[in-house]
Amino acid sequence: MCGIVGAVAERNITAILLEGLKRLEYRGYDSAGVAVFTNDGTLERTRRVGKVSELDAALAEHPLVGRLGIAHTRWATHGAPNERNAHPHFSGDIAVVHNGIIENHEALREQLKALGYVFTSDTDTEVIAHLLTHKLKDLHDLTVALKATVKELHGAYGLAVINARQPDRLVAARSGSPLVIGLGLGENFLASDQLALRQVTDRFMYLEEGDIAEIRRDNVQIWDVSGNPVERQTVQYSDGAEAADKGEFRHYMLKEIHEQPTVVQRTLEGRLSNDQVLVQAFGPQAAELFAKVRNVQIVACGTSYHAGMVARYWLEELAGIPCQVEVASEFRYRKVVVQPDTLFVTISQSGETADTLAALRNAKELGFLASLAICNVGISSLVRESDLTLLTQAGREIGVASTKAFTTQLVGLLLLTLSLGQVRGTLAKGVEARLVEELRRLPTRLGEALAMDSTVEKIAELFAEKNHTLFLGRGAQFPVAMEGALKLKEISYIHAEAYPAGELKHGPLALVDNDMPVVTVAPNNELLEKLKSNLQEVRARGGELIVFADEKAGMTNGEGTHVVQMPHIHDILSPILYTIPLQLLSYYVAVLKGTDVDQPRNLAKSVTVE
Ligand code: F6R
Repeated sequence: MCGIVGAVAERNITAILLEGLKRLEYRGYDSAGVAVFTNDGTLERTRRVGKVSELDAALAEHPLVGRLGIAHTRWATHGAPNERNAHPHFSGDIAVVHNGIIENHEALREQLKALGYVFTSDTDTEVIAHLLTHKLKDLHDLTVALKATVKELHGAYGLAVINARQPDRLVAARSGSPLVIGLGLGENFLASDQLALRQVTDRFMYLEEGDIAEIRRDNVQIWDVSGNPVERQTVQYSDGAEAADKGEFRHYMLKEIHEQPTVVQRTLEGRLSNDQVLVQAFGPQAAELFAKVRNVQIVACGTSYHAGMVARYWLEELAGIPCQVEVASEFRYRKVVVQPDTLFVTISQSGETADTLAALRNAKELGFLASLAICNVGISSLVRESDLTLLTQAGREIGVASTKAFTTQLVGLLLLTLSLGQVRGTLAKGVEARLVEELRRLPTRLGEALAMDSTVEKIAELFAEKNHTLFLGRGAQFPVAMEGALKLKEISYIHAEAYPAGELKHGPLALVDNDMPVVTVAPNNELLEKLKSNLQEVRARGGELIVFADEKAGMTNGEGTHVVQMPHIHDILSPILYTIPLQLLSYYVAVLKGTDVDQPRNLAKSVTVE
């Protein structure tokens, strides 16, 4: 997704801007650009399609040297990913970078064209640049013009703007797209994510919705949504540089898969007593609120949505609470009927996913009992705007395909299930105590599953030449199959579909032949025999089976059937364990296919636009 970096300093800022863009690369993008007010007194820019390294190379050939600048990585929404559409966009003396989407850009474009402005790109952003220039004609001051401009914008934006006529400042506006100011000594910075600025500062000021900021070398001024001057709290980080290297691993994704025992352990830390979940982990008012909960509505996107789907099985089975799960992009535009005393739960790795945030904002108008965010980023918008929070402790996830965020979300959702069951008295004490014990053992079990790495790597060879695959699961393993299919399509570009195994004969069986491998997960539970019959249906049509089966499930290799034995685990925790081999499988298939594993094509890490 798009990234913003800006700087105003006494030294040359081009290298700082480039380093910032590199640190945002993991979010996914298709072009990059930088605009600098040069020491020669001119506003200049360089833009390139492709990686930041292309931009770097271009700047090495024709350096831009200056003390004020803005930079951007673009993930195309309006207009193809080409140099013309890459940011920064210019209008007269103005340069603009923008994250988000301006919904009324067409109407504004027509008005501006009628006033004589000439458009050189297909983007919604260029509208902002011209509108600012137009406002400046009467208002003369960049900050004042920006305040007037944003009043006419509908949609979402994080904006950074510079003006060659006022080269002492960088101005910014936030509405729907995060922005943070990095505070230095005699120099200040701006970015869409603090990670971009960790090389220059550890002190940050987060802009809030509707804020406008004027950032000079030695001074930062902020106005809130009503135009009143405000102070925003300064946050200081002391954790040093976050581990951002791959260590012994070839890709971030593999590193993050292998981190799962550790991060699951961290997500459990301080949240379990001897035999119970500590309900206060969800916040001081959680126990009182949870006692009132009669329904749960979960909303999320992508992998986080799959975590929500697993939670539905848990919430209904263990806590006896009716639960609905919906993707955020649907929920936010639907007329929703809210049952009394429904807890609204969002799940998100980033906490900045536009659809999930919008769904939360809508939910606030709809009469839910309270909102809870299960999120990996403590300083995210989702966390700030929710009543209750449970932070997953996955650490920074760099691979675009989510792995450790998913398993830690599942742990968080199981803690939620047990807490609701405990507070409402619907879960027997003995059952909770047993599951707490199993949760404590989970990191070890995950380690055992990871030890099968090389076995899964061999299995991956079966997929290298295939174009289609089917993933099957029953019960809470159905969402695990969905997540397995999503991982495979995201990073190997092989078409993968997931079905509840019982649905096979209602249609997808027609697709099965020896070119369509079928992957399934088979824990040893009451659905095992039914699953085995479904697998017979596949074999009878010549389909090749890859089965990750509990060591006690009595399944063995046979013609066209490859069985990988999995460590035995309590059935409730099996969705967490069985996710691991599916992640490894998609990883090794992608490596065989030679794709860009950590930054798959067309995808972004944090989807901050609709
Ligand atoms: C898939 C993936 C995406 C995200 C989705 C939601 O591997 O990463 O499907 O899960 O974009 O993102 P968050 O969890 O940040 O809201």
